[in-house]
Amino acid sequence: MSIRVFENRLILLETAHTAYAMGVDAVGVLRHLYYGAKVARGEDFLDELDRIQDLWPNGGDRVAEEFSAAGCLRNKETSLRLRYADRTRDFRYAVEKIDVQGERLTVTLKDADYGFAVELLYTVLPEHDIIGRAARAVNLDEEAVELTRLFSMELPLPGDDYEFLNMTGHWGAEHQLCIERVSGGKKVYESVHGTTAFDAQPNWAAGRGVTETAGEVWFGALQWTGNFKVVAESVPYHYLNVTAGVSDAGFSRTLRRGEAYETPVAWLGFSREGYGGMSRLLHRFAHDCLMPAARRDEPLEVLYNSWYATEFDVVCEEQERLADKAAKAGVELFVIDDGWFGQRANDRAGLGDWYVNPEKFPQGLAHLIDHVHGLGMRFGLWIEPEMVNPDSDLFRAHPDWIYAYPRRETVTGRNQYCLNMTRPEVVDHLIEVFDRLLTEHGIDYIKWDMNRFMAEALDDGGEDGMVYVHHAQGVIRLARALRERHPEVSFEACAGGGARVNYETMSIFDQFWPSDNTDPIDRCRIQEGYSYFYPAKYMRAWVTDDPRLPFTFRARCAMCGSFGVGSNLNAMSDAELEEVRAEVALYKRIRPAVQFGELYRLRSMREGGVQIWQYVTEKLSAVISVVDHTLDPTGPVRLQGLEPDAIYRVEGPCGTRTLSGAYLMGQGVQVTGSRHLSAEVTVIEKL
Ligand code: DGJ
Repeated sequence: MSIRVFENRLILLETAHTAYAMGVDAVGVLRHLYYGAKVARGEDFLDELDRIQDLWPNGGDRVAEEFSAAGCLRNKETSLRLRYADRTRDFRYAVEKIDVQGERLTVTLKDADYGFAVELLYTVLPEHDIIGRAARAVNLDEEAVELTRLFSMELPLPGDDYEFLNMTGHWGAEHQLCIERVSGGKKVYESVHGTTAFDAQPNWAAGRGVTETAGEVWFGALQWTGNFKVVAESVPYHYLNVTAGVSDAGFSRTLRRGEAYETPVAWLGFSREGYGGMSRLLHRFAHDCLMPAARRDEPLEVLYNSWYATEFDVVCEEQERLADKAAKAGVELFVIDDGWFGQRANDRAGLGDWYVNPEKFPQGLAHLIDHVHGLGMRFGLWIEPEMVNPDSDLFRAHPDWIYAYPRRETVTGRNQYCLNMTRPEVVDHLIEVFDRLLTEHGIDYIKWDMNRFMAEALDDGGEDGMVYVHHAQGVIRLARALRERHPEVSFEACAGGGARVNYETMSIFDQFWPSDNTDPIDRCRIQEGYSYFYPAKYMRAWVTDDPRLPFTFRARCAMCGSFGVGSNLNAMSDAELEEVRAEVALYKRIRPAVQFGELYRLRSMREGGVQIWQYVTEKLSAVISVVDHTLDPTGPVRLQGLEPDAIYRVEGPCGTRTLSGAYLMGQGVQVTGSRHLSAEVTVIEKL
């Protein structure tokens, strides 16, 4: 049993390797007691529960709570802010009910004086060492209650001086690892863009002295694709209070009698094996529990995307020539990016008009699709559903369908407006248009882009405090409807690069485009940060043109994820095309390990210009090394995750050798090249 309740006041959640304890104190407050490695006796916490009550009788910030609410002498960031109709602004609750249903726990916190309650919802995934946590506010009072914040999770970690991990960055430089000591005050990562962002992630990790391979690390990931806020606060009473949920910036939800509001879920975990252990645990969870089941065990195709080759200048014959060359190189999926529709000659026109441009495709898109299918490849197309150019038929027909303020000029970003996804008719229109596009054409794959954030936040239903939430829900409704109607089509999420990489998107889409920056060295850093929370399979990476750098170097950096080609094949010589073919073949050989293996980050680019990643499955492993310095190459590198007694055939910069797992993990083997700007692949097969 993964949920146990002792004396109706102590709750213990258990997974394969972790335990989580909370208890109801004498006045009914739910105190957080413990989250960490598995414990032998849950009963021990009963004693702890009695002891801490004597220590902190006055509560307030001193108490490590499972769910804190603003007011009642608290100064810390809390999970709830509300306002009752009589202007009372605090929530004084006692635990009313503890309900266990299988792996689900609901703890009801009921206000002493108002008909308002918060239910804390826990889901235990014992095999995955993951605990889900959400909150649901319910109003049964005659009078309305206004919520101005309701977070999904709160976790007080005992002690001081934690290092807190999140990502920072900007367009073209997403997922830059940011690990900072929080020894006073608070650190806030937030998006107020209406979607997740380039410059922060709805994920976090915390620990002290954590390395890649060792150290206790706590972490969480919000399953949400809208505004979010993650706060790590060093509370002066010796704990780090981590809270996360939908951002409260511009948020308010009025609950009338009988109404409820439920937050997105936050997934929590704990590992004693450092950041590497954390990532592997999350990757496994993401694969088993989040990714759309239909495609999660299918390898992603090697794709060709013509964006960097032709940009908006899409001409059918040229695309056909690219497709011919891509097929010869072994590509399995041919994608036309932006520029195929409406009057889309550049980024100033056409968005919203999702019909095939007749000048660019005089014989229709089907002509090209048939050509691509005839070459044995699947066919993919780019769309940007939530956007409209002022210069478009859609905007001319429905100028009121965008977010706009009545007396202001509407802001444009990349010359486009954001469609008001809180309007049901807008979402319905988009469902109809893209449903038709997918029904009428043999499209196998969609790249779904989004190139500007929300600015004018007006909810058409009049609930402006919910506009960001409703917007995200509108996008989710559209995506789910298209997936449901077209289960044969796979979907990639892109947002000018990585601005919509999050666990909610992962639960709907089959892959991400993490960044528009394809420079190999920059990309290694982006991919490293990305890999902390997201699996390699969801990391689309293309090799693109850059004559300053060797092709193999560029290609192998892209092989760290789901490989694709973005080079202008029409401008390549036969010898260069042969290089493309060889790299595609090499990737296909290691693909099962890269896309389905466990990732070990053996060396980080941040520590001296060498990145070495190892991907391990039972039968096949691969090591990809990237050397970006002119110093001596590294010597033998100790591998990880192999079976000590198994014998492996190793093929790479070390030549071809037959070695035991114990040797490979103890003595190690040469996996790096000997040159500046070299990237090598080592293939390891279990004999
Ligand atoms: C931004 C994307 O990230 C690119 O890959 C490309 O699809 C362009 N948009 C097209 O406009």
